[in-house]
Amino acid sequence: MSVLIKNGRIITAAADFIGDIFIEGEIISAIGKNLAVKAATTIDATGKLVFPGGIDPHVHLDMPFMGTFSSDSYETGTRAALYGGTTMVIDFVLQTQGKSLQHALNDWRSRSDNNCVGDYSFHMAVTDFNDETKKEIRHFIEEEGIVSFKTFMAYKGALMIDDRQMIGLMEEVKKCGGLINVHATNGDMIDYLVAKHRAEGKLSPLYHYLSQPEITEAEASERFVDMAGYTGCPGYIVHLTCEGALNAVRNATKRNQKMFVETCIQYLLLDASLYEKDFEGAKWVMSPPLREKKDQATLWAGINQGLVQVVATDHCPFKWDQKLMGKNDFSKIPNGHPAIENRMELLYSEGVEKGKITLNKYVEVTSTNAAKIFGMFPRKGTLAPGSDADIVIFDPTEKHILSVATHHMNVDYSAYEGWEVTGKVKTVLLRGKVAIDNNKCEAEKGYGQFIKRKKVSQMV
Ligand code: URP
Ligand code: ZN
Ligand code: ZN
Repeated sequence: MSVLIKNGRIITAAADFIGDIFIEGEIISAIGKNLAVKAATTIDATGKLVFPGGIDPHVHLDMPFMGTFSSDSYETGTRAALYGGTTMVIDFVLQTQGKSLQHALNDWRSRSDNNCVGDYSFHMAVTDFNDETKKEIRHFIEEEGIVSFKTFMAYKGALMIDDRQMIGLMEEVKKCGGLINVHATNGDMIDYLVAKHRAEGKLSPLYHYLSQPEITEAEASERFVDMAGYTGCPGYIVHLTCEGALNAVRNATKRNQKMFVETCIQYLLLDASLYEKDFEGAKWVMSPPLREKKDQATLWAGINQGLVQVVATDHCPFKWDQKLMGKNDFSKIPNGHPAIENRMELLYSEGVEKGKITLNKYVEVTSTNAAKIFGMFPRKGTLAPGSDADIVIFDPTEKHILSVATHHMNVDYSAYEGWEVTGKVKTVLLRGKVAIDNNKCEAEKGYGQFIKRKKVSQMV
């Protein structure tokens, strides 16, 4: 099977030109102007942007969390991602304390295997680092192709590890050629503030926000950066939201330490005033919480300064009746919001269209950098001969409105209801197959492949 995409404006992290892309099977075989080739299918991309499929390295599908499961399955979540121009996601396996990493991986595979429409991989979240866990790290990196290990400095009593475990894990991961991801907020401080607010009868979603002030994130980010600097382990801070935390990374760069940073689309676009909407604010109860306008400005600047390399989603949807579990107590509202389908269009509209970032930067932060940091480049994350043909054909002028009425995520509200975006994903190819066309999904459940990743030490 061959496909020719003709006359598109081809954008990568480094290039921008009008040309053709020729695909044979799952792979791009040629890129150039007026390619003299015959293809089974020709797509006219005149007037359209053509860029690499999005990679969202932070999603939670069908995840057991806070007494329930996130509402998108591997099928619905990866399909919605494709509709939004994201061809690959990285999800999180969570170790159960007292059990092995392998036990958790088997459990996650029982939900994900043969169920994905788009491509996927896993980060392995270590919630109990001990002598037995330590022995599993090399196997995960070298045999399973899972090279990134997630740690939580928060969710005390559930997922949090202490600094002793963190240092031990960092030493082992560095030795084996992997990388540590971190949810960097101070779990003890948050635990104290949550208990205090509850004791005072302050139970609305606003107190979720007030229980996680900026200092809880700035302090933990600094501590993580310092521990990574000491051990020499590559680090990646997930869902960084605020000025204080980014300044900790900025300081580390002054001593030539490399630390990768991800922010998420919601922290660039939404702010904490949404928590003043009484219980409706539960739609945006996530950790860390939304911040202030000044933090949005810091994050946009951080992207252009190269301090923030990735814009992800932390997609972790819950239906409204699940959010209602916390109707009378903010600490019981399942944390997370839906965005897997909206990230690429929102960032184009608010970032590129409004002149905050260039098109090349857009490709970098939605695809290329994640592929590089997480050991998949140049198979994923770019348009080049030999790369997987994961391609988005995008109309940069079409305006449309985001809504629960039209989205494909398995959640009964939109966190961006009524938001008008400029730019629409028209056609998506995943490994050479037309997966989305004319608002229809042509790829089946099971088409999505698990992507084994390379050692991070070979990439960064
Ligand atoms: O609120 C969030 N972020 N939910 C998902 C779990 C996590 O901390 O990433
Ligand atoms: Zn987190
Ligand atoms: Zn998350």
